[in-house]
Amino acid sequence: MEKITLDTIVSLCKRRGFVFQSSEIYGGLASAWDYGPLGVELKNNIQRFWWNEMVRSRRNIVGLDAAILMHPRVWEASGHVENFHDPLVDCKQCKSRFRADQIDLTAACPVCGTKDSFTEPRQFNLMFKTHLGPVEDESNIVYLRPETAQGIYVNYKNCVQTSRVKVPFGIAQVGKAFRNEIVTKNFIFRTCEFEQMEMQFFVKPSEDKKWFDYWKETRMEYYKKLGIRPDKLRFHPHGPDELAHYAKEAVDIEYEFPMGWRELEGIHNRTDFDLSRHSEYSGKDLTYLDDQTKERFVPYIIETSAGLTRSVLMVLSDAYEEETLENGETRTVLRFHPLIAPVTVGVFPLVKKDGLSEYAMELEEELREHFSTFYDESGAIGRRYRRQDEIGTPYCITVDYDTKENDTVTLRYRDSMEQVRIHKNEIVDTIKQAIKDYKRVGV
Ligand code: GAP
Repeated sequence: MEKITLDTIVSLCKRRGFVFQSSEIYGGLASAWDYGPLGVELKNNIQRFWWNEMVRSRRNIVGLDAAILMHPRVWEASGHVENFHDPLVDCKQCKSRFRADQIDLTAACPVCGTKDSFTEPRQFNLMFKTHLGPVEDESNIVYLRPETAQGIYVNYKNCVQTSRVKVPFGIAQVGKAFRNEIVTKNFIFRTCEFEQMEMQFFVKPSEDKKWFDYWKETRMEYYKKLGIRPDKLRFHPHGPDELAHYAKEAVDIEYEFPMGWRELEGIHNRTDFDLSRHSEYSGKDLTYLDDQTKERFVPYIIETSAGLTRSVLMVLSDAYEEETLENGETRTVLRFHPLIAPVTVGVFPLVKKDGLSEYAMELEEELREHFSTFYDESGAIGRRYRRQDEIGTPYCITVDYDTKENDTVTLRYRDSMEQVRIHKNEIVDTIKQAIKDYKRVGV
């Protein structure tokens, strides 16, 4: 298969209702995107998959949903007010703005071509500021959170006291984050409003390395379990110059997107930086007492921080394939893992007459209890299969004249295009088993 481009993915997303430009009828808002009927299903399914893997299937990780707006002191304590900056330069001629570390400052402006036109680099804070309440002054500034992590740190004592979790334990949360990013190209890869899936794991200081290594490997396995091609995934350890202000050690999981290798998730050893700072700024004791050893310490934190909206782009890029069939036709297929496909089962009557539509509609209604379904009766059956392939529907059921005779239907598999005849009472179990056994071809 030829290498796919980002434009191919963008155009499929728009054509089939995964992602739309924000405020499109007004000419669009730069770098903001809306998730359409299929996109929201895909995003919710990825989120659910992550939540099941990280929270539901583990005894020692609990969930949280903290507010986006937090006390402004949180961001002073976290270091974001002081350190969360990008160096920016402006072109004096055309006023375009660039990240100083991403362009050649000795070259001409990439937009208007003027030489020696850049201002001196200035530090630009990435946090969005707003005001809480009716008066707009310095005393009521609040920030839109630039990471979900801080909501977890300030609730760490609440979780310990109410859930009685014991070190080592984790707190997980999924939610929106905001950054006033200057360079926001590449579709939904880097946006000003995005979603993160973060888990903060609280450990004994002496065990930080062990847990850092554990989460590094576990998070890579997660992507493989999600059906992502292993040759498109790799680790990128951070050198001393790349470390965030809070991190002692960090590694990214990178994916080879159509525009190249890019960060998908960050795993950080944040040490006791955050809890110590919150303790200092709030005046509250955030130490942990180990009731067995009677040791008291500030836990170290190992963080796994994945982009949810970025995962949507990754999953779409990874699933997209164009294949040439024996008859020379090209088939576009999204090979999503069935657990995250927006539609799990498509149900079709072979023709719209002789009671086949009624039969198929009733069947689709029954299947809705178990799966996300879609009913389609328009166009030739082959075209209906292609439409489902293009949105990644892993299973399709066709009702025909034999169905009326003996209650059997055709079950068609997206990946192999194999068709089997089964009794309608076997559909639910057969599909549930197929989902459990799913293995992507060629991976
Ligand atoms: N709490 C740590 C933290 O926020 P980060 O490396 O800045 O670390 C973690 O971000 C993840 O969040 C990234 O790996 C990426 O997937 C996602 N992310 C960060 N900035 C983003 C943006 N502007 N648009 C979309 N996703 C973003």
